[in-house]
Amino acid sequence: MPTARAPATSANLGSGFDVFGIALSRPADVVRVERAERTTIEVTGAGSQFIPEDPEKNTVGAVADALDAPAHIEIDKGIRPASGLGSSAASAAAAAVALNDLYDRGKSRKELVPIAAKGEAVVSGDAHDDNVAPAILGGFTIATPDGVTQVDADISIVVTLPEIVVSTRDARKVVPRETTVERLVETVGNAATLTAGMYRDDPTLVGRGMKDGIVTPARAKLIDGYDAVREAALEAGATGVTISGAGPGVLAVTHEWNQRAVANAMLDTFEDRGIDARAYQTEIGEGTRLY
Ligand code: HSE
Repeated sequence: MPTARAPATSANLGSGFDVFGIALSRPADVVRVERAERTTIEVTGAGSQFIPEDPEKNTVGAVADALDAPAHIEIDKGIRPASGLGSSAASAAAAAVALNDLYDRGKSRKELVPIAAKGEAVVSGDAHDDNVAPAILGGFTIATPDGVTQVDADISIVVTLPEIVVSTRDARKVVPRETTVERLVETVGNAATLTAGMYRDDPTLVGRGMKDGIVTPARAKLIDGYDAVREAALEAGATGVTISGAGPGVLAVTHEWNQRAVANAMLDTFEDRGIDARAYQTEIGEGTRLY
């Protein structure tokens, strides 16, 4: 019975809206697949009570259809849905890799990215690759309509996850439709700086390049305490802070020796506002692993 573990991911990284993504070492989803006449789904683990098991409504149902690979699919959720940590993308990525193996479809990892993205569309209403690409390939990914570029990178990350629900659909509604040339120039500069930082494993450059004056300010309003948490993380030594994906997760880039201090500062700030949160001290990691 093929089993695949797909990591949490963080999309956007501020300046790379709908383009940049990273795989995180922790947390992860585990998916087990078994041949069947028709697709059935069983979900356990974090937030499973909110995830539909109907194949028409679950992200992995669309993946099974796209691969013409009906199966009984067991999903063990390590990643809470509506977290900004690519929860649905992880299930879709793990299912794509496991079903490709189960039915010997012979697709490459890169070919599985758009297939897993079809599953994403079921929940977000939009097929974009910025979570599924790092979930399958690992590292730092740049997903554009012309293809995906992957870079291995070694960067320490803290993600705090407040007990607030922000749906991707709602977070997409607040994205500005227009911007100025000045903002565009600033964003291109930041995105290029971030990319150079990933190649050099340099948290200072990555953190500097995460600045974004277009999408993040609009979305920050949906996350109670975001500005204070960001400020606290930077004061504790984070090199950059932004919203993880569509939120409400908040992502900080740090030096490895500073992870705990940054995590504590972010948690304390949420707690001061009466918001329960948990922190993952993690790093950029590998993609989907098949057992
Ligand atoms: N790039 C997407 C967004 C990721 O920020 O809306 C969430 O699916």
